[in-house]
Amino acid sequence: MAIHLWFLIHLLLILLSTISVSSNVFVSINCGASGSYTDENSIAWTGDADLISNGVPHTVQSNYSISPLYDTLRAFTTRRKNCYSIEAEEGGKVLVRVVFNYGNYDGKSTPPMFDLHLDGNFWVTVNTSQAIYYEAIYVVKRKVISICVAQTNPNQFPFISSLEVRSVDPRAYNHIGPNYALFRNIRNGYGLNETIRFPTDPYDRVWNDVNIGNGLRRVVNDASFINANTSSNPPQAVLKSAITPVNDTDFISLGLDTIAYPFHYPMYINFYFIEVKQLNATETRSFRIYIDAVPFSLPIVPHFGNATEYFISNLSVTADTSFHIVGTGGSMLSPLLSAIEIFSISNALNNGTNNSDVEGLISLQKAFDVLQEWGGDPCLPAPYSWDWIKCNNDSVPRVTSLNLNSFNLSGRLPDFRNMDALEIINLADNQFSGSIPRSLSRNSQLILSDTGNPLLCTNVTSCTRSSSNKKKTIKFSTILTIIIPVFFIF
Ligand SMILES: *[C@@H]1O[C@H](CO)[C@@H](O)[C@H](O)[C@H]1NC(C)=O
Ligand SMILES: *[C@@H]1O[C@H](CO)[C@@H](O)[C@H](O)[C@H]1NC(C)=O
Ligand SMILES: *[C@@H]1O[C@H](CO)[C@@H](O)[C@H](O)[C@H]1NC(C)=O
Ligand SMILES: *[C@@H]1O[C@H](CO)[C@@H](O)[C@H](O)[C@H]1NC(C)=O
Ligand SMILES: *[C@@H]1O[C@H](CO)[C@@H](O)[C@H](O)[C@H]1NC(C)=O
Ligand SMILES: *[C@@H]1O[C@H](CO)[C@@H](O)[C@H](O)[C@H]1NC(C)=O
Ligand SMILES: *[C@@H]1O[C@H](CO)[C@@H](O)[C@H](O)[C@H]1NC(C)=O
Ligand SMILES: *[C@@H]1O[C@H](CO)[C@@H](O)[C@H](O)[C@H]1NC(C)=O
Ligand SMILES: *[C@@H]1O[C@H](CO)[C@@H](O)[C@H](O)[C@H]1NC(C)=O
Ligand SMILES: *[C@@H]1O[C@H](CO)[C@@H](O)[C@H](O)[C@H]1NC(C)=O
Ligand SMILES: *[C@@H]1O[C@H](CO)[C@@H](O)[C@H](O)[C@H]1NC(C)=O
Ligand SMILES: *[C@@H]1O[C@H](CO)[C@@H](O)[C@H](O)[C@H]1NC(C)=O
Repeated sequence: MAIHLWFLIHLLLILLSTISVSSNVFVSINCGASGSYTDENSIAWTGDADLISNGVPHTVQSNYSISPLYDTLRAFTTRRKNCYSIEAEEGGKVLVRVVFNYGNYDGKSTPPMFDLHLDGNFWVTVNTSQAIYYEAIYVVKRKVISICVAQTNPNQFPFISSLEVRSVDPRAYNHIGPNYALFRNIRNGYGLNETIRFPTDPYDRVWNDVNIGNGLRRVVNDASFINANTSSNPPQAVLKSAITPVNDTDFISLGLDTIAYPFHYPMYINFYFIEVKQLNATETRSFRIYIDAVPFSLPIVPHFGNATEYFISNLSVTADTSFHIVGTGGSMLSPLLSAIEIFSISNALNNGTNNSDVEGLISLQKAFDVLQEWGGDPCLPAPYSWDWIKCNNDSVPRVTSLNLNSFNLSGRLPDFRNMDALEIINLADNQFSGSIPRSLSRNSQLILSDTGNPLLCTNVTSCTRSSSNKKKTIKFSTILTIIIPVFFIF
């Protein structure tokens, strides 16, 4: 019988692994809203009531309305860290965008400042004195993305207006390791007459149309078909136009001084070039990128019909750094530029709290609903661990203290034996039943407080026998309830 069962489980696992296909994530959450909403780009937004159990929905004052999307928000006044969890594909690349529109929703005329976290990593301090958005592109390490806002100042309560997650081709922006996130500073399409995003850009990047600037003019591409299949795949529409100096002997000058977003160093930069016309036999166009008046790139010759993506990774810059695109000596035609993206490279992303501990905490949350108000990474970033645990400072943190006292919990404790770094377990003054995992209670270093739990069995010798019997029957029946339906499907 046992062999039979293991054979079935094995078969089941093989089936499950072949059934799971790589999923395309496209999640759009309109925080604080109750219904659904489809915007002018055909993006369908859903409310967040089913996603998060804490926080309070609010509406901005009517004269601060930007769009129906940013008129609602969810504000958090009771917990230090407040998180949205979104399912994603482990190892997949995603774009995450978070929008904040304070709109004096609380009538205090005091736009708060607070921190934004991504998967247990500090992202940015949010300054909400004007409507603002932040965007990250990175490789997801777990099956769930967590986006959290954390209170950092008394009486300045975090909030979120909207949240987006989109899958991005793994080939895009791949000149940094998977351990780093890119935080968007600038994404400009030169010579555009409108902002371009989804559905023109399937990754829903927002390409801003910007003022062309003095001494520059717009040129439109003559090509009937543009091959934009570079590694980062900009939309064809973005490459349809470019800027070039009015005076053929001039160069294109770009500064970083206009970047409002607080930027980290170093930076990741993508330049996009494409020839705008069919050159005749005598015409030539080539140029080089200069950084602070020093030639940086080799000569670049843009192709008619085919885009060129030129990347610079891990570049240390200051607000005074300048870029120039300058024609080479032999170039008959002036330099041109279609689009640019500038990102700050994050610090190395952490790997999150030890998975054994995360799973133990999830089993406790499943058993006791009130604990589900805590989300995101349990320990990270320090010191924003969940209120009812304590963690050590290891690079992969372990949960060392579990404090479930004062919650008035009742019911059977789940099996959290994998949380084997626990040094303190405080269960006092609840109505727990069941037992504390034997492997944990055997630890002579463990400080266990279980007073006021008449139904809880803490005597290792006397509880283990009965509970282990129970475990077996439970496990056996759950296995059958999984296997039988699967076989009927086939
Ligand atoms: C909205 O109205 C309030 C007063 O009613 C005013 O102080 C504020 O500046 C207005 N905001 C905008 C964006 O017009
Ligand atoms: C927040 O941003 C506003 C302008 O957007 C600026 O005036 C203010 O100094 C910023 N606050 C902080 C603390 O950086
Ligand atoms: C913007 O320019 C494109 C060509 O580059 C043109 O097809 C489109 O109609 C223009 N849109 C507007 C709103 O002017
Ligand atoms: C884009 O280029 C990559 C490799 O250069 C290739 O594998 C892929 O098929 C191309 N996609 C399209 C749509 O041409
Ligand atoms: C173009 O630049 C050259 C060299 O800087 C200058 O002599 C010339 O006057 C400029 N032409 C125009 C039309 O600005
Ligand atoms: C190439 O085009 C330029 C104008 O851009 C023109 O002056 C020149 O005569 C052309 N040369 C040939 C060989 O057609
Ligand atoms: C554009 O690139 C494609 C694929 O790399 C190539 O087949 C084609 O010849 C190129 N076209 C031009 C005009 O360079
Ligand atoms: C970036 O450059 C610095 C030195 O300037 C180097 O220490 C670091 O390892 C580089 N990081 C990456 C991700 O290449
Ligand atoms: C996270 O894991 C990756 C590979 O699994 C490793 O290269 C990296 O050093 C780890 N980071 C930390 C902070 O432990
Ligand atoms: C997490 O904890 C388990 C159980 O102690 C241990 O076996 C595992 O190596 C730890 N994982 C990491 C990444 O530290
Ligand atoms: C972790 O580090 C912080 C700050 O460095 C310190 O205050 C805290 O006591 C440390 N915690 C442990 C468990 O070592
Ligand atoms: C634990 O239970 C065993 C068996 O029922 C009993 O012999 C032992 O005295 C108990 N120990 C304590 C500390 O209550």
